[in-house]
Amino acid sequence: MALEIVILAAGQGSRMKSRLPKVLHPLAGKPMLQWAVDAALAAGAGKIHVVVGHGADQVKNAIRHPGINWVLQAEQNGTGHAVAQALPSIHPEANVAVMYADVPLLAVETLRALLSGLGEKRLALLTAKLDDPTGYGRIVRDGDGVVLRIVEQKDALPTELAITEVNSGILAASAADLRRWLPALKADNAQGELYLTDIIAMAAAEGFGIEVTQPADSIEIQGVNSRSQLQLLERSFQRQQADALMAAGVTLADANRIDIRGKLHCAADVSIDINCIFEGEVRIAEGVSIGPNCIVIDSEIGADSEIKANSIVEGARVSAHCVVGPFARLRPGTDLAQDVKIGNFVEVKKSSFAEGSKANHLSYIGDSEVGSGVNIGAGTITCNYDGVNKYKTVIGDNAFIGSNSALVAPVTVGAGATVGAGSTITGNIADGQLAVARSKQRNIEGWQRPSKKQ
Ligand code: UD1
Ligand code: CA
Repeated sequence: MALEIVILAAGQGSRMKSRLPKVLHPLAGKPMLQWAVDAALAAGAGKIHVVVGHGADQVKNAIRHPGINWVLQAEQNGTGHAVAQALPSIHPEANVAVMYADVPLLAVETLRALLSGLGEKRLALLTAKLDDPTGYGRIVRDGDGVVLRIVEQKDALPTELAITEVNSGILAASAADLRRWLPALKADNAQGELYLTDIIAMAAAEGFGIEVTQPADSIEIQGVNSRSQLQLLERSFQRQQADALMAAGVTLADANRIDIRGKLHCAADVSIDINCIFEGEVRIAEGVSIGPNCIVIDSEIGADSEIKANSIVEGARVSAHCVVGPFARLRPGTDLAQDVKIGNFVEVKKSSFAEGSKANHLSYIGDSEVGSGVNIGAGTITCNYDGVNKYKTVIGDNAFIGSNSALVAPVTVGAGATVGAGSTITGNIADGQLAVARSKQRNIEGWQRPSKKQ
């Protein structure tokens, strides 16, 4: 049977105290709802329905996936009411899983395990045992351990509050069964809402088997209602990623001081100092060392290269045996061949450096093609922008650019050419030539400094 997934995202999340709808608050750099959508896709959902209400337009605009069926729940009358809004657009013969957009860490494997519990006269439910079950619905079982119903925190008797097995909110059933149960829900409870959780008692009364699945780690089912809970999930998720890196042969100076907001692929013997942030897709080859306080975004770093403290590397390809930083900034379109050195306070944008070239101090290199064995002196600036258009600077192999030079693009410096320090280069330089473009030094003999007027 085809699988359709309903993700509930209409609630306000008032405890977040935010202009941003709760489900758009990011975990590891990605909106919580996007986590749910990605998990639903990975679990094989043929169709995804997202129920929105508070900040509906903002939510729709923030989520990337073209195929989503957005369902508006104008008034938030409860989780059962929310699923009922999606029901008309669900195929009557489909299987349906319900997910919550404020439960971001649900693993795809857990979702798959839950779905395998579905079948004739069966409902699949995801639960977990929590040390502190406060706030969650409790799973009420009979003496033989058979699930009877779910009771919400606000409706529970003291004996029921002592139950530590909680409802994740995530469940699966056939659309046909939901069509029978949802219209029968009643709001005769403490919150005056239509509780999705009440279908458990209906199913049990019809003699259905309630197939319970539990996640490998209870973190997977934890919901976010406050910024403090979001922060706890973030730290716990980051710690899991750090542990996985260490297990794969990466040295971390402090497993609690690394943040990965995306995918970080590390070969063995990579070493990462404290306070580094990785975003997007980052690939780091064997033996690389990353100094403290570095930010690496959508980049590739080749074997045995070193990124020194406080560097920012974004959209760059760094080959093997390079040294970058401290305090370097590689911007999108940077492509460094082997053995390149980019030193402190050097900014590189949309530029390639061939093997063994160096820009060691205080430079801006933009829209440039730098050959091999080039030495770019301290304070060199490529003037790539005339205020309207950008132009290219080409520097040939083994050229030497003296310190504090300005290369006004479009301009070509030939192979083996030399630029005298302090030059402003506005014309091309042929191979092997020396270009000096600065005013000549005058030394004045017997110069008297002005004296103070009486
Ligand atoms: C719900 C469950 C509870 C479970 C807990 C797990 C019910 C009645 N209770 O409680 O058993 O332990 O989740 O986190 O289902 N939503 C809508 N429309 C609504 C109401 C809610 O879309 O009318 C969405 C919210 O945006 C949220 C999710 O449904 O993503 C859960 O709603 P919430 O109000 O947080 O439910 P809980 O009280 O936490
Ligand atoms: Ca909740």
